[in-house]
Order: sequence, then structure tokens, then C-alpha cells
Amino acid sequence: MAEVVFYPHNKSINVKEGTTILEAARSAGVIIESPCNGAGTCGKCKVRLEREFLQNVLAKGKHCLLEEEEKLGYVLACEAQITGDIKVDLSENKQNTTLKILSKGQSFDIA
Ligand code: FES
Repeated sequence: MAEVVFYPHNKSINVKEGTTILEAARSAGVIIESPCNGAGTCGKCKVRLEREFLQNVLAKGKHCLLEEEEKLGYVLACEAQITGDIKVDLSENKQNTTLKILSKGQSFDIA
């Protein structure tokens, strides 16, 4: 088991090794934006880990990250598997509050 701490939310959870950061966040009730639902294609689930914790994740899916972001400790939450205790910095993750589900619409016949 590994302890995952999400800050500044101050929420923590113990998870099995191999769990992704996104899965751990969802289990802890922490929302990380994930429009592709963990398919590894949108790059919106970027989270930052302190350098000392980078050794405790198996980070895949670097195709959505800039080289500078990797150097700063960013990983994709949906593809980073936890292998030891980590602290996840979500202080820069802003929730998108502008998206809404469409409940009305129009259709047109195209001849
Ligand atoms: S949720 Fe889309 S890349 Fe992680």
C-alpha cells in the first residue's frame, strides 16, 4: 500500500501499488480534470509532484507533456502508476466551471 496526499486539499488515501493518480484522486473525492476519461489523449490531467516523489511513480504517457513540464515534475495523472508514497500538488489545477451540459437544441432538415 502507498499513501497519496493531495494538497492543498489536504486529503489522503492509501492505495494499492499500480493504482493511477487519477484513480486515487477519484477514490479520495478529489476532482482532477479528465475530459478523455483517462485515455491518455487530452493532457488535461497534468499534476505536479515534488522531485523527491517522482521516483515513486511509473510515469507513462509523456506525449502530452512539454519537456519543461517533465523537468518540473509534471505527470499525467491518468497514466502515472503509484509505486510508493507521494504528495500531489494540485494548487495549479483549476476546475473548469464554464462547461455545461446541453439540455436544449435545434435540428434542421438538410435536403
Ligand atoms: S485524462 Fe486525458 S490525458 Fe489524462
